[in-house]
Amino acid sequence: MVSSVGQHFLLKLFLLSFKLRLITDRLGNSLREPKASLDPSTFQQKWRQLPISISQEYSLSSEGVRALTTPQTLPRHMQNSSIHCIASGGQSPNLKFFFYAQKAEESSTFLVECLINTSSSKAQIKIKADDQTASQQFSSLFQTALSNFGS
Ligand SMILES: *[C@@H]1O[C@H](CO)[C@@H](O)[C@H](O)[C@H]1NC(C)=O
Ligand SMILES: *[C@@H]1O[C@H](CO)[C@@H](O)[C@H](O)[C@H]1NC(C)=O
Repeated sequence: MVSSVGQHFLLKLFLLSFKLRLITDRLGNSLREPKASLDPSTFQQKWRQLPISISQEYSLSSEGVRALTTPQTLPRHMQNSSIHCIASGGQSPNLKFFFYAQKAEESSTFLVECLINTSSSKAQIKIKADDQTASQQFSSLFQTALSNFGS
């Protein structure tokens, strides 16, 4: 299900060089190095310039919340839907992740800030996009991937 949605949407990874320090300095406290690769200054620049196109709250499954006792399981899970983690941090119950994805056939990038409260089992998502018209489609993909987390 997840991979067919992923294939349908044709997302792919940026293959750019990566220095996490830049993004941790600008994007906030206690962010940690993930296994994805993206030029953090590009991420930062886009995050500053683009408006929020979608802001939503999702509920996490109890399996998802349990899986977050090891926070790095979420980046690995989202990676399977071609959604890559560029930075993560925080401490339970409040975890913070930044994700990005790109449509394969265009240079259209999606940026996501995902704040998770494991006490309330809620995820607060902010999505920014080069192509605002594709935000809703990306948001559905993101939500599907998130709802499968832990299962
Ligand atoms: C990602 O997908 C692969 C192949 O479909 C699967 O073997 C693996 O368990 C998946 N990993 C996660 C974290 O979902
Ligand atoms: C997280 O959820 C708990 C329980 O609902 C709540 O008391 C707390 O204020 C929330 N934390 C944040 C940062 O929203």
